[in-house]
Amino acid sequence: MEKGKKRLSKTLAAAGVASRRACEELIFDGKVTVNGVVELKPQTLVGDSDKIAVNGQPIQGAERKVYYILNKPAGYICSNARLNRTTKLVTDLFPDSKERLFTVGRLDKDTEGLILVTNDGHFANQLIHPSRNITKEYLAKTDHDLTHEHLVAISSGALVQGTFVKPASVAKVRRGSVKISVHEGKKHEVRILLEAAGLKVLSLKRIRIGGLLLGTLPTGEWRELTEKEKKTVLNP
Ligand code: URA
Repeated sequence: MEKGKKRLSKTLAAAGVASRRACEELIFDGKVTVNGVVELKPQTLVGDSDKIAVNGQPIQGAERKVYYILNKPAGYICSNARLNRTTKLVTDLFPDSKERLFTVGRLDKDTEGLILVTNDGHFANQLIHPSRNITKEYLAKTDHDLTHEHLVAISSGALVQGTFVKPASVAKVRRGSVKISVHEGKKHEVRILLEAAGLKVLSLKRIRIGGLLLGTLPTGEWRELTEKEKKTVLNP
């Protein structure tokens, strides 16, 4: 295929006109023009410089795909549904964004740390799909000075949403702090593992997803992922 060009039907679908199939129908029906001329073939290649219209209306280009790493503060929810005026959404931290952003997976309202925010559903699905088995690492502060027995109890696992899960690794950092890695990504998983070991969670922070580290990004701040990081997070 010619570089930078895409099939007309794919371009229409990417611009949100309709499904690929429905876009083909529009083309066959003579509703689509390219540079002012009716185009009847869905496989015709078009590029950025072509003026495409459906029923005489120019289409908007596909939304630019964006990928951010955010250090989520506690108190923000990973949802696009605001329950009331006091609800703080993760997407509120991107006030100037023109894209329709959402989080890749979720962190609890009270959990801080690394979360990815994007408008690329395909990227998000790849990351959260269980077959990828991507490790997520958390730093938890608990109310006890951790003993060997606590660490054994955490490592032995717990029932989370009807499935018995064991962490991939557990390591004491100091006193009441522990690093826990998990594969599953089930709701409240780390809190449940710690509570099942008799520990109260004082704070929880995600510090790694796959090969991507939170690093020194300050709480509440975000930056764009580099191309290399986008690959690293999927293939650690
Ligand atoms: N496990 C939890 O318990 N909470 C989170 O936010 C993420 C993982």
